[in-house]
Amino acid sequence: MLFLALQKDFGIGRVGFTSDQFPQDEVKKENLAEILQWQGKQSLFEELVDKYLFQTSISGVQPKVLVRDQRATFHTPGLIIKSGMDEYPGLAINEFVCMSAALNCGLAVPKFYLSEDHKLFVMHRFDLDPEGGRIGLEDFSVLLGESAKDKYSGSYESLSRVIEMYSASPRRDIEIFFRILVLSVLVGNGDAHKKNFSLIYNDILAPETIRLAPAYDIVSTLPYLKQDTPALKMNGNKKQFPGKKELQRFGKKLGLKKTKEIIEQFAQTVLDTLAKNKELLKESPQIEKSIRFSVSRCMTRG
Ligand SMILES: Nc1ncnc2c1ncn2[C@@H]1O[C@H](COP(=O)(O)OP(=O)(O)OP(=O)(O)O)[C@@H](O)[C@H]1O
Ligand SMILES: [Mg+2]
Repeated sequence: MLFLALQKDFGIGRVGFTSDQFPQDEVKKENLAEILQWQGKQSLFEELVDKYLFQTSISGVQPKVLVRDQRATFHTPGLIIKSGMDEYPGLAINEFVCMSAALNCGLAVPKFYLSEDHKLFVMHRFDLDPEGGRIGLEDFSVLLGESAKDKYSGSYESLSRVIEMYSASPRRDIEIFFRILVLSVLVGNGDAHKKNFSLIYNDILAPETIRLAPAYDIVSTLPYLKQDTPALKMNGNKKQFPGKKELQRFGKKLGLKKTKEIIEQFAQTVLDTLAKNKELLKESPQIEKSIRFSVSRCMTRG
């Protein structure tokens, strides 16, 4: 209850919490420019933790409460701010380049930015409408009635069945889902697990608004885990990333046409995106190397 109360109204999705024991001071929305140009003495993360969590009188809890797996993701009333900390060098650049590739491939993505020091990846929240209302968001672990700890078990086929069952435009959303997976395979994203896909909806009583959420959390995991494998099974296999033919086979199962063209077009777009971000990628050469390796592996593997 204490943690729910601390979370207040900043959590993702439609559910917010209040407690009489914690005054709900009006929190000013973050200034995007300030975050992107952050040069404070304290780390931005500590500053945000102080501002959002410890404006209450609780002391002794350190910012590490927010850090999972040596990465940190912070939700503010309007933005999501992610840091790779020291453990994952170049993670913000990595996510910026992969999300740029998604945008260039024509996928819907939240508006996103890279901070000036290239250490933070910042994006607008898509679970808030422009008037500040809440948009419902349920990830696929929730939709399948499963615990978060099982987010790496199961298959992409089962996620497509969930889309089929709930989406108001299942054919359209299944094709978008396929496109997101193609991009994930091309960049070598081994973290496309069940919580990295969601359905969103405007109102609990408006099933006609249920749709696939914009693409998020697409990163190449290969720079940190050379031998990484896909998060979920595709065509019964998750021992290795699928090649072009396997992706086509999967697309066919989903009832999609022209999958070969999509894969080829996306591969070219990923390479073009790397070229456009050449200077930035010089800071973390491993990222470009991994993504190039992954694209060529996908296009040559059966
Ligand atoms: N732009 C966005 N707007 C609203 N909600 C978002 C947005 N991006 C992500 N989310 C939600 O926030 C959660 C965490 O975001 P994200 O997956 O990018 O962070 P992460 O720390 O890398 O997560 P993990 O490592 O657990 O996959 C997501 O699972 C999703 O529910
Ligand atoms: Mg995630």
